[in-house]
Amino acid sequence: MASIASLALLCSAIIAPTQAVNQTVRIPYENTYLLPSDFSGNVNQSFVNGTTTSNFRINSLLQKANGAPFIAYDESFLDVIGDEPQPRLIDNRTTLFAYEAGVWIPELNQVWFTSSTYQASTIPGYITVLDLLTNTLHELNGTSKPIINPNGAYYFDGKVWIATYPSSANETYNGGIISVDPRTLEVETVLNSYFGLPFNFPDDLVWTTQVNNRYLFFTDPFYGFLPYPDNFKTPQLPVGVWRWDPQEDLLLPVISRNEIQPNGVRVSPDMKSLYVTDSTATFVTQTPYNPPVGPAAENWLGPYIYKYDLNEEMLPVNRRVFGLVREGIADGIHVDDDGNVWTAESEGIVVRSPKGRVIGLFNAAYFQGEVAAASRIPIANFALAGDTLVIFGVSSLWTVKLNKTAVSANSVIVN
Ligand SMILES: *[C@@H]1O[C@H](CO)[C@@H](O)[C@H](O)[C@H]1NC(C)=O
Ligand SMILES: *[C@@H]1O[C@H](CO)[C@@H](O)[C@H](O)[C@H]1NC(C)=O
Ligand SMILES: *[C@@H]1O[C@H](CO)[C@@H](O)[C@H](O)[C@H]1NC(C)=O
Ligand SMILES: *[C@@H]1O[C@H](CO)[C@@H](O)[C@H](O)[C@H]1NC(C)=O
Ligand SMILES: *[C@@H]1O[C@H](CO)[C@@H](O)[C@H](O)[C@H]1NC(C)=O
Ligand SMILES: *[C@@H]1O[C@H](CO)[C@@H](O)[C@H](O)[C@H]1NC(C)=O
Ligand SMILES: *[C@@H]1O[C@H](CO)[C@@H](O)[C@H](O)[C@H]1NC(C)=O
Repeated sequence: MASIASLALLCSAIIAPTQAVNQTVRIPYENTYLLPSDFSGNVNQSFVNGTTTSNFRINSLLQKANGAPFIAYDESFLDVIGDEPQPRLIDNRTTLFAYEAGVWIPELNQVWFTSSTYQASTIPGYITVLDLLTNTLHELNGTSKPIINPNGAYYFDGKVWIATYPSSANETYNGGIISVDPRTLEVETVLNSYFGLPFNFPDDLVWTTQVNNRYLFFTDPFYGFLPYPDNFKTPQLPVGVWRWDPQEDLLLPVISRNEIQPNGVRVSPDMKSLYVTDSTATFVTQTPYNPPVGPAAENWLGPYIYKYDLNEEMLPVNRRVFGLVREGIADGIHVDDDGNVWTAESEGIVVRSPKGRVIGLFNAAYFQGEVAAASRIPIANFALAGDTLVIFGVSSLWTVKLNKTAVSANSVIVN
């Protein structure tokens, strides 16, 4: 029988304010490559949800991580997120409004992002603006001409540069690269054809500089076409990465379809390396041959993050694998001022050290919007806005205050 004193203790324990649960789960990095030998795992599920072992302690750690917003595989991730990171829900909708780009405009304290290509045949793409001061959203309007089907984007030299794609929502629009002055809202078309052939699906872009010269790289994949042939035009150009050199007035393909089904593209802070993600999911490469579709056919690629050197002519050379995506593909990519590489993958936003070690995860099981999860549409992109991470949950939008400035306002890679 309990004494009065211990009952009082029990009561005070019950009525005491509950300690906020620590939302970060730390998984030893060793568990990513060494597990009890009878483990089982599944490529179609995340590491923490799809892996079971005979070790109770490891299983319960993975289970605990499955519902957590933050998973740290390395101490350095704790330095990025701090002791008490707090997810903040900005909006939660039934439409796929928060999907691509993720452009921070420091001068206006805004983040611009674009709606999902998944709904592009029924709802023409549009841009939404997040005001970081007030945490309010509004649709971008009042531009000098309409911005049709915006996709990936990059902030450079006072302008937002946007990759736009053609779709059945507007048969006359061919897509291409445009620029928008965020103050005057003046829109200009930068490029939209290769000798009269439209690009397939301009997806993402980045500006790089070398001394006084500047170069624009953009990716032109075609993954919209295979699953949705009615929504997109038949490809006429091979997929690949292109480079525009305004000094020489020169547009060139610089990475061929034999190397990549490209998606996101970013540059390292020292401008010496180019990162490009490949959109071929693992299970697609497991079939020996995909039906060839025009010149853009793909075959034995994989969900890699590739790293290239940018040589003295500012051309990408020496391709090597920088990272392999655990589940799905890496879509959007951003590099922070320390050279860490952040990618949006099916598991969530994965952060890799400059050497390629996965140091942590912003867990999709927590951040992906419910409507997006129900339609199996993964998180595609996010923004690094100073010390704020803006997560596009596709049908939801979150911010997380970081413990450090990931990308500073005067960084050469504001992105
Ligand atoms: C993963 O999903 C793909 C596509 O649905 C399927 O073909 C493959 O068999 C699955 N792999 C496993 C290990 O379940
Ligand atoms: C947060 O940043 C400060 C300053 O850089 C650092 O001293 C501290 O260790 C960081 N916090 C964590 C949890 O790493
Ligand atoms: C939460 O857990 C992480 C990982 O173990 C730790 O670094 C952090 O200090 C903890 N935060 C608090 C407030 O205890
Ligand atoms: C988002 O809204 C849905 C209903 O549409 C709701 O079930 C869900 O809990 C909401 N998500 C968050 C994170 O509040
Ligand atoms: C433009 O957006 C603002 C803010 O959301 C709104 O008040 C205004 O009515 C919009 N204008 C048009 C022409 O849609
Ligand atoms: C369709 O695209 C053309 C440019 O090719 C543009 O002028 C027109 O405004 C677009 N229509 C809609 C509804 O967006
Ligand atoms: C974890 O996997 C189970 C199937 O084993 C699935 O039903 C559930 O939705 C998954 N949870 C998350 C958060 O992904």
